[in-house]
Amino acid sequence: MDEKAFQEALRERTKYCDSIVEKWLPRPKSYEKEVIGAANYSVLAGGKRLRPLIMEETGRMYCGRANLREPFLAAIEMIHTYSLIHDDLPAMDNDTLRRGKKTTWAVYGEGMAVIAGDGLLNYAYETALRAFDLADDEEAPRVVHALRVLAKNAGFFGMVGGQCADLLAEKRPAGEVKDDLLTYIHENKTAAMIRSAFQIGAILAGAPEDDVIALGGIADDVGLAFQIQDDILDVEGDAGTLGKSIGKDRAEGKATYVTLHGLDGAKTRVEELTGDALRRLDKLSETSDFLRTLVEHLMTRTR
Ligand code: IPE
Ligand code: IPE
Ligand code: MG
Ligand code: MG
Ligand code: MG
Repeated sequence: MDEKAFQEALRERTKYCDSIVEKWLPRPKSYEKEVIGAANYSVLAGGKRLRPLIMEETGRMYCGRANLREPFLAAIEMIHTYSLIHDDLPAMDNDTLRRGKKTTWAVYGEGMAVIAGDGLLNYAYETALRAFDLADDEEAPRVVHALRVLAKNAGFFGMVGGQCADLLAEKRPAGEVKDDLLTYIHENKTAAMIRSAFQIGAILAGAPEDDVIALGGIADDVGLAFQIQDDILDVEGDAGTLGKSIGKDRAEGKATYVTLHGLDGAKTRVEELTGDALRRLDKLSETSDFLRTLVEHLMTRTR
């Protein structure tokens, strides 16, 4: 896909994901207004919408129904945003800038940020469950499968597990954190949610099981590359472009792929993982130029 066509498609699809995320947001009724305000503030602050974009595309690849996907596109972005709200808390990464705006806790206070995250996680499932209202008899079991994948990858054996290992690693002297632990952290705190994105679009569309499994493998490569690139951008990125503060990992003495292998080593690894993901994408029973180009572009992303 040429650059101009890709940028145009990316813009149009991001706009679509924004509109779906907005459409499914909770509307306050009474005293919960403050917590919903805090949650919606973070969701609407922006963000690349990478997970919904990927889910939408694997759904399209296997000719899935857009309506049925909608609640899942919104749900994955809600879970992702909750993870960012909590990740930024003083008790975790203590960040004050996210998506180009003040972090949720810096605006609404820590208590409100904690429950805004809780509420978003819960509302994600309330939202995804509404897919049953839209599913026909053939689709209902796919919704169950998609829910299982979404829940597992967000939980103890996914993103939360990764955040746990990340916190534990931070307490250790950086030299003690080796590749196996760092890989566990990256695979879980970041790649797991990306796995949900790649697989759920395909699952809802009724893709062949072999392809769903292969998409999981591709997601692991893309997710690892994405987090290594995140670590690279913490060193050489621009806060204005990224929309979050830089230099935090070093300031906190955090072990990252960059501290373990240097900037060049990290960049080489991102290229290897991306090449691997592209080769695996080409082996699926369906192809997507957009997804291929998106994966390629993530390698050189600056935000
Ligand atoms: C940031 O995710 C957290 C990581 C997993 C590295 P994104 O870089 O996708 O953040 P947004 O959604 O665009 O803000
Ligand atoms: C966060 O990793 C991953 C999750 C929120 C699950 P980081 O702590 O590196 O993400 P940033 O750099 O704050 O976005
Ligand atoms: Mg963190
Ligand atoms: Mg962080
Ligand atoms: Mg980071």
